[in-house]
Amino acid sequence: MNHKACVYLVGAGPGDPDLLTVKALRLLQTVDVVVYDRLVGEEILAQIAPGVKQVYVGKQTGHHVLSQDEINHQLVMLVKSGRSVVRLKGGDPFVFGRGSEEAEYLARQDIPFEVVPGITAASACSTYAGIPLTHRGLARSVEFITGHCRNDEPLSLDWSSLARPDKTLVIYMGLANIDEIQSGLINAGLAVDTPVAIIENGATRQQRRHITDLAGMQQSVQQYEFKAPVMFIIGKVVEFAAILDWYETAEDEYRFTQQGSYNKFAR
Ligand SMILES: C[S@@+](CC[C@H](N)C(=O)[O-])C[C@H]1O[C@@H](n2cnc3c(N)ncnc32)[C@H](O)[C@@H]1O
Repeated sequence: MNHKACVYLVGAGPGDPDLLTVKALRLLQTVDVVVYDRLVGEEILAQIAPGVKQVYVGKQTGHHVLSQDEINHQLVMLVKSGRSVVRLKGGDPFVFGRGSEEAEYLARQDIPFEVVPGITAASACSTYAGIPLTHRGLARSVEFITGHCRNDEPLSLDWSSLARPDKTLVIYMGLANIDEIQSGLINAGLAVDTPVAIIENGATRQQRRHITDLAGMQQSVQQYEFKAPVMFIIGKVVEFAAILDWYETAEDEYRFTQQGSYNKFAR
């Protein structure tokens, strides 16, 4: 298939190739170049057709392989040289993925682009942990929050609007600031026994899931040595994990139970 010279900003989802969109998969097999990030795993990269050039521009807080300016410049140069490019990003490009910044740059440079949504970590992690993000009578709204600010500045979140018992909070990139998040919510009045799920590598074969409460959140992170990528889900809906977990095998559950309080809310 011949594509026009263009950037496709594509969401790769959480890592399982079965959770790629059909459009994303088709593009990975038919464009000239794929430019990808650190959060895009091997199994997704294995879907790229052999003749397609792969360029790694991964970013890790504080350790950029290429700066954002260099990435933007590279995308422009590739399109100007007549290539069709997939700019592949973990999850959804428009959810804490800086996809909008890249799209804005391309738009200002008059470079054609399209955006292909992906399954964001909030959806993937909650679903694969057996947690509905909303539930009639329990959670009327859900809020996606970044737990990390540019240049490690303190979080300036409106804690009182977050600390509501009928809301689900989904916290991306919260590991480094977990103390501040925990105390911000408790000081704003959210009950200390509000259930919390900590999910590492959600929706992948390496998934680790731990259920605790607001009072125990920070201690659990330390005790079980959670490492990025980690998602926190806070709210009453987390209790459903005890009965709706369809993903982790019985063997996995045994392993977690051996480690300690696998699920404080188990029935
Ligand atoms: C820079 S954000 C990118 C989010 C991405 N654009 C999305 O829509 O999912 C990276 C953060 O997403 C969360 N995340 C991404 N994939 C995850 C996974 N498989 N399990 C747990 N958290 C994940 C973590 O909080 C991680 O620090």
